Amino acid sequence: ATRKPLVVGNWKMNLDHREATYFVQKLAWLLRDAHFDYDDCDIALLPPFTSIRSVQVLVDADKLNIRYGAQTVSVTAQGAFTGDVSADMLSALGCTYVLVGHSERRRYYADDDALLVDQVRAVLAAGMTPILCVGEGYEERREGIELDYAVGQVDDITRDLSEEDAAKLIVAYEPVWAIGTGLVATPQSAQDAAAAIRQHFTHIYSAETAQKIRILYGGSVTASNATLLMNEAHDMDGFLVGGASLQAEEFASIIRLTL
Ligand code: G3H
Repeated sequence: ATRKPLVVGNWKMNLDHREATYFVQKLAWLLRDAHFDYDDCDIALLPPFTSIRSVQVLVDADKLNIRYGAQTVSVTAQGAFTGDVSADMLSALGCTYVLVGHSERRRYYADDDALLVDQVRAVLAAGMTPILCVGEGYEERREGIELDYAVGQVDDITRDLSEEDAAKLIVAYEPVWAIGTGLVATPQSAQDAAAAIRQHFTHIYSAETAQKIRILYGGSVTASNATLLMNEAHDMDGFLVGGASLQAEEFASIIRLTL
């Protein structure tokens, strides 16, 4: 494919700033030891807010070709919003990516479409890349409406985006029933979802833009299933990894298998 693969580790609420330092050192060492060519695959880490600076310090000091970002972001620029972190603050830390609409945010914090639309805007305005997460739950899968559901979620958030902004998006297809459960989607269903999402972009934007957008799969990705998913799901351009991104060895293996 013309799109460069991308493997993103979403640490969720794991790894404090010391553990983050240890992780990055180890990951860099493992990849160096394996003669990993950073031109083959983009790598990104999404630590909790308090660990981002630790990642930045090491990435800068060792000139590592590893990107990083955040798991959510405020939609406001600054001011009296207790507990929030702005997109400009993240971009000042050298963040490249911000997750938007992870199912855990939608579920536990009631992040709704209006908020997600504003988050996408805020991330783009700060010069970063939103990774928009979509994916059906068990019910929709059981009813056989998973593709419409996931495409509908993409449309809900991206409907008013200009073509130029849409070209900067990354979409992560994560069936909710596969997150943290050990139940991975089959390569065929990951492919079907990625193809349906790309097809949707083809209808709205030019084929060229639709071909540019990277689509990741997430949900119980491990070093044991990464190869099969990558080989058989051609519209899929990499992974959003949760649990298996917390151990440097396993995360390094997934990266090396994502070619
Ligand atoms: O953001 C990552 C996804 O929620 C997947 O999590 O790999 O632990 O299933 P998981």
